[in-house]
Amino acid sequence: MPIPLILNGRTTALPAGPGDRLSTALRAAGLTGVKEGCLEGECGACTVLLDGAPVCSCLMLAAQAEGRGVETAEGLAGDGASDLQAAFVHEGAVQCGYCTPGMVMAAEGLLRRNPDPSEAEIRQAIAGNICRCTGYVAIIRAIAATAASRRAAPC
Ligand code: FES
Ligand code: FES
Repeated sequence: MPIPLILNGRTTALPAGPGDRLSTALRAAGLTGVKEGCLEGECGACTVLLDGAPVCSCLMLAAQAEGRGVETAEGLAGDGASDLQAAFVHEGAVQCGYCTPGMVMAAEGLLRRNPDPSEAEIRQAIAGNICRCTGYVAIIRAIAATAASRRAAPC
């Protein structure tokens, strides 16, 4: 049963079975930036924005997104890369990349509600996103750099 929602800014109907997780339905629709890791809400790889706030899409049924706004990393990227995604690359915050889309969505959610986060606030915002590779330092640097550049040149 297709679920009507606003996906990356477009009104659409997301194909999903009655018991399908939102993460699974999004991946099946080609949005493979949504990763499935633990499927228990522990790793954050499946993080998307729901009405602008980061959520674990593995913990939601696709049906629960009916009528809501859902954003994935593909929506941020558009035809290229968002400033945040570019900062991750520039700062060396991507290694295997498995955590990256979820990490970017958690960071995007933070920067929308708090344009000038402290390091502690950045760490708190990504506390639910596990990265096995980077040690987090470059990720925090990328988020802080994006916050600074957005404050300097608000769009
Ligand atoms: S796959 Fe959703 S939190 Fe790990
Ligand atoms: S870059 Fe490999 S898990 Fe984060």
